[in-house]
Amino acid sequence: MLETKGLTVAFGGLVAVNQVDLSVSPGEILGMIGPNGAGKTTFFNLLTGFLAPTSGQILFKGKDIAGLPPSRIASLGICRTFQITSIFPGLTVWENLLTGTYCWTQTRFLDTLVRSRGYAEQRREMEKQAREILEFLRMEDQKDARARNLSYGDQRRLEIGIGLASRREFLLLDEPAAGMNPEETQTLSQVIRQIRDRGITIFLIEHHMQLVMGICDRIVVLNYGRKIAEGTPVEISHNPQVIEAYLGKEEEFA
Ligand SMILES: Nc1ncnc2c1ncn2[C@@H]1O[C@H](COP(=O)(O)OP(=O)(O)O)[C@@H](O)[C@H]1O
Ligand SMILES: [Mg+2]
Repeated sequence: MLETKGLTVAFGGLVAVNQVDLSVSPGEILGMIGPNGAGKTTFFNLLTGFLAPTSGQILFKGKDIAGLPPSRIASLGICRTFQITSIFPGLTVWENLLTGTYCWTQTRFLDTLVRSRGYAEQRREMEKQAREILEFLRMEDQKDARARNLSYGDQRRLEIGIGLASRREFLLLDEPAAGMNPEETQTLSQVIRQIRDRGITIFLIEHHMQLVMGICDRIVVLNYGRKIAEGTPVEISHNPQVIEAYLGKEEEFA
């Protein structure tokens, strides 16, 4: 699905991502962990076109996407959620989900004014998709609630729902459990598993070790921009280099 080769980006003298080779296979949940400042978010910025690499390649389904603009990369099928929630707070849950469907419909703004027959059909399809995700998230009761009035955990789930509505096949999640309570985190891990079961490939950055260890098929560890380890959750939790990188930060590993 995705492969990076020698991926590198430097900010002045700081090499934030340094010669990283990794691959994500279709249908897997790949996790990326590493101490604060390790380069994880920067890595996602490279994959999604928010940053251009200094050197190296990013192959998405065999095509080199390094340096393409974010909109182009999104249209190729990569969906990303942000550490900062990117829902529309003033819109309802339902309206937020509909916004996610716009990227795969041919609906143009003019169609919504003219309300052509083609538009009516598209609209039905969009609503069908939004309804399906609403049920999937078990948020039917909150359909008409303004997003800003949802609990924090529900806002984050809605954000993932918008991503699902976009029907992209590769989902990047940057710290989806940040700020969630244990119950919300539990629900989130179920949602992530179910998303994978729908055939969507997932690459997630996460601080919450229990979540990462519990749901990832494989984990990649970054430290000072370099990949220092890669393996199953069990392999990673026993890897001396990983333990070393987290030394003095055991609480993150708890
Ligand atoms: N746009 C930027 N300009 C300069 N330095 C940056 C920029 N973005 C990130 N960095 C630096 O790159 C390093 C990696 O940051 P980041 O990718 O956010 O780490 P992580 O997500 O693993 O905590 C940090 O030292 C950070 O200060
Ligand atoms: Mg980060």
